[in-house]
Amino acid sequence: MSKSFDVIVIGAGPGGYIAAIRAAQLGLNVACIDEWKNEKGGPAPGGTCTNVGCIPSKALLQSSEHFEQAAHHFGEHGISLKDLKMDVKKMIARKDGVVKQNNDGILYLFKKNKVSFFHGKGSFVKAVDGGYEIAVTGDKSETLTGKQIIVATGSSARQLPGAPFDEENILSNDGALRIGKTSGAAPKKLGVIGSGVIGLEMGSVWRRLGAEVTILEGLPTFLGAADEQVAKEAKKAFDKQGLKIELGVKVGEIKSGKKGVTVAYTNAKGEAQTLEVDKLIVSIGRVPNTQGLNAEAVGLKLGERGDIVVDDQCRTSLPGVWAVGDVVRGPMLAHKAEEEAVAVAERIAGQHGHVDFALIPWVIYTSPEIAWVGKTEQQLKEQGVAYKAGSFPFMANGRARALGDTTGFVKFLADAKTDEILGVHIIGPYASELIAEACVAMAFRASSEDIARICHAHPSLSESTKEAALAVDKRTLNF
Ligand code: FAD
Ligand code: NAI
Repeated sequence: MSKSFDVIVIGAGPGGYIAAIRAAQLGLNVACIDEWKNEKGGPAPGGTCTNVGCIPSKALLQSSEHFEQAAHHFGEHGISLKDLKMDVKKMIARKDGVVKQNNDGILYLFKKNKVSFFHGKGSFVKAVDGGYEIAVTGDKSETLTGKQIIVATGSSARQLPGAPFDEENILSNDGALRIGKTSGAAPKKLGVIGSGVIGLEMGSVWRRLGAEVTILEGLPTFLGAADEQVAKEAKKAFDKQGLKIELGVKVGEIKSGKKGVTVAYTNAKGEAQTLEVDKLIVSIGRVPNTQGLNAEAVGLKLGERGDIVVDDQCRTSLPGVWAVGDVVRGPMLAHKAEEEAVAVAERIAGQHGHVDFALIPWVIYTSPEIAWVGKTEQQLKEQGVAYKAGSFPFMANGRARALGDTTGFVKFLADAKTDEILGVHIIGPYASELIAEACVAMAFRASSEDIARICHAHPSLSESTKEAALAVDKRTLNF
């Protein structure tokens, strides 16, 4: 007889494992199925984010930033070092250790919350009275029955036609996070296709460790989703660091051999060019994971991108089947997946789960960090919204000067009439942390005046947020 559950979650990334935990907290009997394997073939819950995404990329960004600081900035503090060396193998091993801590943490949380975990591939078998039969195919294959199903199968890197990932020379995010694992060396020349989030973060890691990095971007504009002023400041900073970014290119044939990779492309002027590199990262977006789910067996509706079609409450075309995270519409971000997961679990339990899609922050963990929430200035212009703007440079912030990290600014956009905050854009030190204040303020529909009247600790980077709020009505105190 098959094991029966109130809820079966397929996938244990940030969408899946959070949905499983929240549903269990609400008193439901929950199973979570995930197929990810660690190097020993055992379970490695956490999905893309934990295994080959958010967590390992931030571990490498941290290690490489330490190296960059030691190599180029310690001197300013009077610290001198002899024979500075980078042990890439050790850096990768540390990153793997951080990943494992997170995998183990999730297994512990499943136990703590009494979520039954199944290691294997989950797929639909058929609809049954009051639910669905789900097959688990793994070391131990079995069939489960669930009254409600949450699909959280995530996404995978998109390949360029004619240049499949071999993870040796042509790398997805997976291979990009393992460069140097066996050789112990950073590549001398690294090519990246796509100057999106992965391109910039991974390009930064390897540039800091000595690689000559060239990023080829198809669009003529840089970081089109960000506020234009921020994108301009970011481009200036990356140029200064020596990250070579070519915009408006058309990538042609890619050849991979023993000596590395050759990329033929046309530059923005229409001239034929060739890029020769040791390794090539292809980061041109991601595709939803729906193959292998056997969606057709139950008639689950898929969209053109292979995504699962859902409404704004994450309900699919089938009763009792929900989908969250990268496998559905919307930004492919871990915290967006988590918010949807909590809301779905609460809806299943009869509560009123809620996600405010307008207030999902974006963060790019480069140096300077880039973070924003809400509307960009160009969006407000396009939508004909009357707004006021105010910004404050980190150069005028005492804490930033003490840190020796004064690139960038905080920018507030507020409604011209009501003063409600419509968008906050930050480029500079700890933008990833500073943006949380803006999220809270906007969730409570605060005005820029509200932030301007709140006492912020001195000296702190957050004073720049207060000053940017003051700047909306042209009354900064320190600039
Ligand atoms: P996933 O994390 O992809 O998890 C899906 C899980 O389902 C996987 O474990 C997969 O093996 C499993 N699965 C798939 N099909 C089946 C099946 N049939 N049966 C069983 N299991 C199955 N986002 C951020 O917010 N911040 C960041 O800093 C960030 N950095 C990133 C860096 C990189 C390099 C990459 C690639 C992504 C990054 N992201 C980041 C995006 C983030 O990783 C994703 O948005 C997030 O992982 C989506 O969560 P998810 O649960 O929807 O899917
Ligand atoms: P992306 O969508 O961020 O960027 C892809 C870039 O590639 C775009 O600029 C696009 O114009 C370009 N491109 C597409 N096709 C091209 C082609 N043929 N030739 C040249 N350029 C081309 O995608 P990316 O970087 O792969 O990341 C995937 C997703 O992972 C992100 O969108 C984000 O959701 C998530 N992520 C989030 C991070 C974070 O939150 N800090 C970090 C890394 C990834």
